[in-house]
Amino acid sequence: MRYAEITGWGKALPPTVLSNADLEQIVETSDEWITTRSGIKERRISHVAASDLAELAARRAVAAAGIEMGQIDLIVNATCTPESIIPASASYVQAKLGAKNAGAMDLNANCSGFVYSYVTADALVRSGAVDTVLLIGVERLSWVLDYTDRTTCILFGDGAGAVVLQPTDQEAGVLSSVLGVDGTLADLLCVNGDGTVRPGSTLTAPRIRMEGSDVFRLAVTAMADASETVVGQAGWGIDDIDLLIPHQANQRIIGATSRRLKLDHSQVFLNIHAYGNTSAATIPIALTEAIEAERVPSRANLVFAAFGGGLTWAAAAVRFGARVTPIAEVDDQLPETDQSVWDLLAANFESFGRLDIQ
Ligand code: UT7
Repeated sequence: MRYAEITGWGKALPPTVLSNADLEQIVETSDEWITTRSGIKERRISHVAASDLAELAARRAVAAAGIEMGQIDLIVNATCTPESIIPASASYVQAKLGAKNAGAMDLNANCSGFVYSYVTADALVRSGAVDTVLLIGVERLSWVLDYTDRTTCILFGDGAGAVVLQPTDQEAGVLSSVLGVDGTLADLLCVNGDGTVRPGSTLTAPRIRMEGSDVFRLAVTAMADASETVVGQAGWGIDDIDLLIPHQANQRIIGATSRRLKLDHSQVFLNIHAYGNTSAATIPIALTEAIEAERVPSRANLVFAAFGGGLTWAAAAVRFGARVTPIAEVDDQLPETDQSVWDLLAANFESFGRLDIQ
């Protein structure tokens, strides 16, 4: 049998931090409210393009897999914050990497984008359609946030994670999966003012709008149901699960999924306090950090679970590969910046027509 194994992993987080204390200066909120309602303490704001974040995460993942750029057959770039409508951001990433033999496409399933992409890429490798896939989850959400809206600007941040998938004859990869959507609820979480439908799209900067408590309620059910289904289909008991790597949107939503699966704290990976919700990037960033923290044993049983705009949800029971140490590492870093978090947000505010940040 042919399977698809994760052989490389990497992440890229911009260095500039936006803390809860910073947010207290620009909207009516408090560190205490944000921490207790979401689990978030700080998030990162990028000074570079999303494709730069994607490139660095990808270079680290490719090094960890010990492959050359020329070996990549397909780049799947999971994102809901593309740099433009045309071309897909995957084209920029392919050019920056010099992955000359690769096809490249974006996949947008919002915060579920990484799991949707992973299940898709796994199937393409298994089928023999391609051998080596570079799968990236990347977002620059700070660019579509309204930093006058306290119900959304506290939640999201920027970042990228990436994995490399390669064929193996040992059982690995997706053992079972659920991909779901209820498109009738799509307007509960959306970015107005861009795209081809809504008028005025070239005149106003696009901004996220969200009915947070409605999304919260649906997320609690959808993520827990999907996780329970894939674990059941994989034939796993509670003790068979090494680690749940959930989408990091809200610690309370993760708690609900963990309780449904009856997992111990030690079986759940959390880093939401450090980065907030980076949408399609949360799971590959979390996976990379979990491997680095030695919380992913060889041939580990993992559960990926996500939900998000669309409204989408997705989960997969995943058998990790044999190797949990990188073959190589790269020295590459993001370019340094002397811009403060206020400088970076000023660019955002300017595009939104409000300049009085401090
Ligand atoms: O990846 C998918 C993306 N979406 C999500 O992850 C969103 C899921 N939703 C959530 O995580 C939660 O709904 C939130 C964290 C956004 C909000 O938590 P909540 O417990 O659902 O609060 P709420 O929206 O019901 O608001 C409770 C109160 C309201 O005041 P009143 O009406 O009770 O007086 C809000 O106006 O909290 C107020 N509020 C805030 N207060 C301080 C809303 N945002 C803030 C804030 N600081 N930032």
